Amino acid sequence: MIKFNFIFSGDVSFGCGVADRVADRLAERGWTKVILVVDHNLLNVAKVQQVTDKIRQSVHSLVEIVCQISEPTYATLESNRVSSKEVEVDAVIGMGGGSAIDFAKGMAVLYRNHLSAIRYRGFNKMTEPVLPIIAIPTTAGTGSEITPNASFVDSEKKRKLGINGAAVRPRYAYLDPALTVSCPEKPTISAGVDSLVHATEAYVAKRTNPMARLFAREAFKLVFDTLPQVVDSPSNLELRSKVMYGTFLAAIALMNSGTGPAAAMSYPLGVHFHVPHGIAGGIFLPHVIAYNVRRGVTDYADLYEAVECAETSLSRDAMNQRLVEDMFATWNRLGVPCRLSGYGFGAGDVDMFIKDTLELKAALDQNPVPFHEHEIEGILEKLI
Ligand SMILES: [Fe+2]
Repeated sequence: MIKFNFIFSGDVSFGCGVADRVADRLAERGWTKVILVVDHNLLNVAKVQQVTDKIRQSVHSLVEIVCQISEPTYATLESNRVSSKEVEVDAVIGMGGGSAIDFAKGMAVLYRNHLSAIRYRGFNKMTEPVLPIIAIPTTAGTGSEITPNASFVDSEKKRKLGINGAAVRPRYAYLDPALTVSCPEKPTISAGVDSLVHATEAYVAKRTNPMARLFAREAFKLVFDTLPQVVDSPSNLELRSKVMYGTFLAAIALMNSGTGPAAAMSYPLGVHFHVPHGIAGGIFLPHVIAYNVRRGVTDYADLYEAVECAETSLSRDAMNQRLVEDMFATWNRLGVPCRLSGYGFGAGDVDMFIKDTLELKAALDQNPVPFHEHEIEGILEKLI
């Protein structure tokens, strides 16, 4: 019997040139006082300047914040706070990678919620309304432009638990593949691999449903086939467009299904060893799939079957195996590491890593077969 709940809200525009219409949207909504958070890497990118110039011309007052870090902390969020007690603001725009958009979400929360930023860590901790958020991603993969989550690092406790809740979901998202052309190779790969983690884990999660699977399968096919081609031809708009569309579908699947062990393990690796989020999840993903396949999970064959070079005459068992092999080969081509030692991770870090990962029990519980301390240890053994 088919039974599910499926959430998708927000107004999404997709296609080359759609970001030029953000200024029109501001005018239409009568939003004349705006906070604009821009990734510092983009300040000299002509296409980005074109969009931000239009925004500047269309508003009466603009607070511009340059987001300088790839993993925002609660402390940096706090130090940039713009308060309703001092300034009038109608909306917040976040332009850049997932971090810049998350930062914009945090600013939107703190505007009327006056406690220290860390007090809003968790789910629906805000008591006052959150400003409307407009997201303009310039990388394809994190999904922040449509998700109700904003990730921040608690530098004191060395934990990454964000500010979450439906109010944090952007009101408008402009997915303009032309903006991703400026994204350098490493963040392009990290964000793309992140979306493959989202699609794969959403497909097999215990909480998945037929609609989430529809999105996850199409997302996997688009990104798995196209990401290596984008790396070879970074200016090709058609390829950039396919990847951005695929990563968007993966985010919808993720929101309506769940994550899993690879996503969970990516967090301590990011916080303690500064591994980019997508790469961190990617390192673990084929190992999680291989473990699950050994324990009898067969649904990965559906993902394998969807990709272009699939040998559809294979048995389902063989297809499951081939997905793991093909993923390792693709990771090799994309430069996703197969060892943790390059990040300074050694045997002495295992206990701390396991402890931190076990705190993300909700994600581990979504794995289709039991995944506990022993399984984390088993995967780490292969990676050290
Ligand atoms: Fe992710």
